[in-house]
Amino acid sequence: MYWDKRLRSDFPLLERKIEGKPLVYLDSGASALRPKVVVDAMVNYEYHHHANVHRGVHTLSQEATEAYEQSRLLLQRWLGAEHPEEIIFTSGTTEAINLIAVGWAAPRLQPGDEIVVSVMEHHSNFLPWQRVAQQTGALLKIIPLCAETETLDVSALDTLLTKKTRLVSLAHVSNVLGSVQPLADVIQRAHDVGAVVVVDGAQWVPHNPACVAELGCDFYAVSAHKMYGPTGVGALYGKLERLEEIEPFLVGGGMVEEVSETGATWAALPARLEAGTPPIAAAVGWGTAVQYLERLEQEPGRLLAHSKDLITYAVAQLQNIPGLRVYAAEAERVGVVSFNLQDVHPYDLGQLLDMEGVAIRTGHHCAQVLMKSLRVPGTARASFGVYNTREDVDAFVEAIDVARSMLLG
Ligand code: ALA
Repeated sequence: MYWDKRLRSDFPLLERKIEGKPLVYLDSGASALRPKVVVDAMVNYEYHHHANVHRGVHTLSQEATEAYEQSRLLLQRWLGAEHPEEIIFTSGTTEAINLIAVGWAAPRLQPGDEIVVSVMEHHSNFLPWQRVAQQTGALLKIIPLCAETETLDVSALDTLLTKKTRLVSLAHVSNVLGSVQPLADVIQRAHDVGAVVVVDGAQWVPHNPACVAELGCDFYAVSAHKMYGPTGVGALYGKLERLEEIEPFLVGGGMVEEVSETGATWAALPARLEAGTPPIAAAVGWGTAVQYLERLEQEPGRLLAHSKDLITYAVAQLQNIPGLRVYAAEAERVGVVSFNLQDVHPYDLGQLLDMEGVAIRTGHHCAQVLMKSLRVPGTARASFGVYNTREDVDAFVEAIDVARSMLLG
């Protein structure tokens, strides 16, 4: 394949041993590991440049501001946004989606309006809409899975989308199934009925730039820690006219133009939606993570090709294991695969794999509505990052074999 295994040495944590065995990290969908350059960039910032941003004429404040704004520009490029003001730093995908629900949807929606989400959404792209529907009297409608393929039943949109649909919110890639949604089609159809489209891009952007302007979605939410950056920072992309419509849900320092005893006017974007001191060092680390991804993506499509090669190889191997069921097995997928081994509880499987040095995620993956639809309490999930190799997949499959013989004889 394209990949140079030396890339693994960029990630100090991969030197860890677990239970005396080399770590096989297959949980990047929950949080990716950080390359050393990202940690170094944050340390360098803290040691040599830190001050508050947008608040001082002194040298350090200007350097901090420049570093923070440079990360915004890098994000703009990775997400494919037209303007830097379209990138709002948040604490992560969850806050980004809540910002839309509280600041855009809650003041607008009326009883009888409709919101459409899918059954496979992560709680962070489900609960904000469930709550806003309860608060406003709007109706929350859910796109089901196609029973045979366990992928999004796009045909359900024929009846789910109506002239009352105000907002459609969908994951670009399911954090459980790994399936990639046919976004272009959904966005077109949602816009045709006048609805605004929100995309949870958390599981897509580690594998490919997002091209949001081309996609035409209204909002796109991401987290740094899934794309080799630090925790605690994420971003909301929004078309300028949509972001202008958001009522800030945090008011305070840094987001005002003029304050008097009786009122205030808000600053221009992006400051208007970034009240308070932001996570500056984390944003700087994230910018470095984007540069790291850009270097891997010098030949466009290379990241996605690596990711698809691994996942295709993994799914093929898993399907050869007797009694193992892969969910949405035939889906076009990126980065993530979920499965169950007969009636073995995923936690038991996860623990036995951990004893072999293999880290996977088990449980409901913050997608309980999907688990109910699949009629399972949880799944085991492997997810892949730039540092994984086919050898990791082999070690993972061998570990399942070991667990299988212990649990099923
Ligand atoms: N959203 C993350 C996951 O799917 C935490 O694991």
